[in-house]
Amino acid sequence: MRKLTHGLIVLLLSGGLFAQSADWIFATMETERAEFLRNLDPNGIEILSSHQNLSAVHVNPQLTLHLKTGNLHGPGFIFKPDADAAISSILHKKAKKFNILEFTITEDDFVNQCLGMVNEENIGNIILMLEGYVTRYHTKPSGQQAALDIKDMWQDMVTAANREDISVELFEHNNTPQRSVILTIPGTETPEEIVIIGGHLDSGDWIHQNVAPGADDNASGIATLTETLRILLAQNFRPKKTVQIMGYAAEEIGLVGSEEIAESYAQQNKNVVAVAQFDMTNYKGSTFDVAFISDAQYTSTELNLFWVELLQHYNASGEHTITYGTSYCGYACSDHVSWDAQGYLASFPFEAAFNDSNPNVHTVNDTFASMGNSAEHSTKFVKLALEFVIEIAKVGQMRTEDLSASALSVAVQNKELIYQSSEIQGKFLSMVIFDASARTMLEKSNLESSGVVSLKGLPNGYYVVVFRDAQGKVYTKKFLLK
Ligand code: BES
Ligand code: ZN
Repeated sequence: MRKLTHGLIVLLLSGGLFAQSADWIFATMETERAEFLRNLDPNGIEILSSHQNLSAVHVNPQLTLHLKTGNLHGPGFIFKPDADAAISSILHKKAKKFNILEFTITEDDFVNQCLGMVNEENIGNIILMLEGYVTRYHTKPSGQQAALDIKDMWQDMVTAANREDISVELFEHNNTPQRSVILTIPGTETPEEIVIIGGHLDSGDWIHQNVAPGADDNASGIATLTETLRILLAQNFRPKKTVQIMGYAAEEIGLVGSEEIAESYAQQNKNVVAVAQFDMTNYKGSTFDVAFISDAQYTSTELNLFWVELLQHYNASGEHTITYGTSYCGYACSDHVSWDAQGYLASFPFEAAFNDSNPNVHTVNDTFASMGNSAEHSTKFVKLALEFVIEIAKVGQMRTEDLSASALSVAVQNKELIYQSSEIQGKFLSMVIFDASARTMLEKSNLESSGVVSLKGLPNGYYVVVFRDAQGKVYTKKFLLK
């Protein structure tokens, strides 16, 4: 008996079984965060296993609220249904396989027509409509209704456009009663290749779950996707690859919706070629417009470089100018991580540098009014979404042949860039080379229409080169220096 009591005390002191209860969850998070929590309360978390900088944990969800403090932003963990799922996901990260040079810019005419159609008022109206649910928290009836209503809204748009080829479906989840919404525009040439733009439809406020307007986080993302859809329908977009637009359930409690979808896609060996996440698009907190979240662990260098190319091509000057920079979450901050974890190429164009982002997220003040009743900033993200979807999925039927792809060719040999233009007469005014962090690596002016540029001094890696001619026309190419 004495011995037994002793054992019990040891068990209690070690923070074992007795501290845990049914509402503890399994999750993965950065080891740094797991240790931070364990220092706060050794009885609130058990670190099951660690690998590289990730840990699988069993944790009291209340304790994770402390991750919001200091420079460790937000709850920042990924929910897992059981210990096995948590442990195996930190051990096996799937390898990526894709040829970066396959992302090209060829659809100038179609993209430019679409860019001119973005309507700020539409975006504002949708943000306000979604804010009207008061909360879209995944377990609240209003949150579950919001998902159904987004599905109906997208379906009504598709029906009005007479597009029987497009489907809109609910995705039922195991770990949340909320549904995700998936819209599919089937590809006309290679339908097995899928391009995804998405954002979460739930909202969350860890303290007042009854009031979580989530106007920026993430009604703005759903509004961005909806306005993108409106324009693609109005332009009768029939892509070569399949395009899917996703509204994810239950992101705020650990990426639950996107995680189950990405896992099911991977299990079915679906060929997702590129993913872009739209989560918070309407608060301009930095001097530049867009921050490409570039955490090496969770985003694709290939896609980040392609974003640089897209913005240099379509948004460097004129009416659609969009400025950009690079930033980092430093943790698994949104649904792009779910895709990345399955080995798909994922990216995350964000409203500002991480530290300059909307200070009202996850509070009752995340409202359209607190963003000045303007959806101006989100209009830029609709343009980004259009460029991404159209250039990766490509315009299928009724495409007018675009010559810009063949107008300039580049090759790399012996640390030299050899370029040749079949189109321009006279000189190129300028040539700039960027790396995947959007840094300018080399600049030249007044170049002949064909020639050789030394790349000595540049580290090996992928680059974008941007040429401008005297008429202001832009030519971009990617190359690999090795
Ligand atoms: N929209 C936020 C992510 C975010 C917030 C990114 C601020 C950058 C700046 C997202 O909805 C969120 O809250 N994510 C959680 C992590 C998730 C795994 C629960 C977070 O940031 O804590
Ligand atoms: Zn969010």
